Amino acid sequence: MYSLFCGSGIQGVMQSIGDIQKCIGSCSKVLQIIHMPKSEMNEYWSMDSINFLKSKNYGIRFENVSYSYDTSSTAESDNNTTDDNNDNRTGGNSNSGSNIHSGSNIHSGAKSADTQSNNNERHYALKNVSFYLPHNKSVAIVGKSGSGKTTILNLLSKKNMITLGKIYIGEYSIDKINSSVLLSVLGVVTQNPFLFNCSIKSNLTYPYKAYEELLKEQIYLIEKKKMAQLCGGGSSSSGSSGGSGSSGSNNSIHSDIQKSTEDINEILTFLNKEIDDTKKKLNNATEKLKDLYKDFHIDDFLINYSNYDNVNVGANGNFLSGGQKQRVYIAQNLYKDNKILILDEPTSSLDKISEKIVNETLIKYMKGKTTILFTHRLDVLHSVDYIGVLNDGVVIQFDTSSNVLNNPCSILKQILSQNAYEKIN
Ligand SMILES: Nc1ncnc2c1ncn2[C@@H]1O[C@H](COP(=O)(O)OP(=O)(O)OP(=O)(O)O)[C@@H](O)[C@H]1O
Ligand SMILES: [Mg+2]
Repeated sequence: MYSLFCGSGIQGVMQSIGDIQKCIGSCSKVLQIIHMPKSEMNEYWSMDSINFLKSKNYGIRFENVSYSYDTSSTAESDNNTTDDNNDNRTGGNSNSGSNIHSGSNIHSGAKSADTQSNNNERHYALKNVSFYLPHNKSVAIVGKSGSGKTTILNLLSKKNMITLGKIYIGEYSIDKINSSVLLSVLGVVTQNPFLFNCSIKSNLTYPYKAYEELLKEQIYLIEKKKMAQLCGGGSSSSGSSGGSGSSGSNNSIHSDIQKSTEDINEILTFLNKEIDDTKKKLNNATEKLKDLYKDFHIDDFLINYSNYDNVNVGANGNFLSGGQKQRVYIAQNLYKDNKILILDEPTSSLDKISEKIVNETLIKYMKGKTTILFTHRLDVLHSVDYIGVLNDGVVIQFDTSSNVLNNPCSILKQILSQNAYEKIN
């Protein structure tokens, strides 16, 4: 599990956890388990994060994004210099529907990754990547192995911090959004499926439960702060913030809590409402679960159990076949009504029949969400709104799916013909 809240390094840690309840019992424990940066544990959500959650625009914009896994040199500091200039960015209003950044903009950034790498032979996994995916639209990003697909996922989910450029969701730069908030709106299917050692139902409902815990923790932190202020403490920059690291970028987050009582009460009202909504969704889970079981043919393999909601999947889903595990894992990421879906080769471990079923179901569930689908497999290309082609870290084509399919670049042609070959064999 990646969305709410996971990283691909989670599996080893999670295998030692016997029961999901152990994780849900304490929010900070959940966050530790999922390798949330330490600085982001027990921290207040920024006002940007709260407004981000309230927002109605989850379009995704990459602006001249470059990334190198080689962190030994200093390029990262370049990125921070523009931190407070979000409002000056080009096309700051991400609502502008049909406006798409295409491949032709890729090298227009003031700083070029190639220039950065001249001196130290730094290898960039992404080079000046720019594209815009409007709210509630879908894109398939196609590229050969090693072209940078998973790197896009890692940056968008803040698993890795961006080296150069900016990523916006709606009007918010993701570096202003707390990781836990960001992950709470993302449904992410990685190339390494992971399930908790508990029932299918608990696995599917886990993201809601974890979100509820995070909301409760925010309320706890704010109430604690209010109490401290009432008792005359009020000294903001000391350790009264629930134990979080209060240095560096966290200062702006902490300062938010110094706002007027009115603001704080508004935040509390929002958090309480979110908890109520989440509880309602959990209480009304049965119908939605049934739909997911049916849509992902989970029913097929659970039909022999009298109470299949409670069938235990084993440590990391080991009681299930690879394909069954993958289907439960995808269903888990669709159960919570995430605003954004990121699917990294979601059908890679499925046979052709299961792949067809899952692709059809995914297309159904993608509606009403902003979706990025990374794939080598091209069956779904006609069903997405946009197609991007990535080659060696560079976006070489990005346009509406019909435009791209009518005029595919040479790399896409190669991949398409390979795909046709695989289908025949
Ligand atoms: N953790 C890492 N450390 C160093 N280099 C990495 C790391 N992860 C990926 N890379 C490199 O970054 C480049 C892009 O990798 P990425 O995983 O994004 O490719 P991909 O398109 O997802 O490939 P695939 O289709 O095989 O999953 C590759 O050259 C890869 O070797
Ligand atoms: Mg990958």
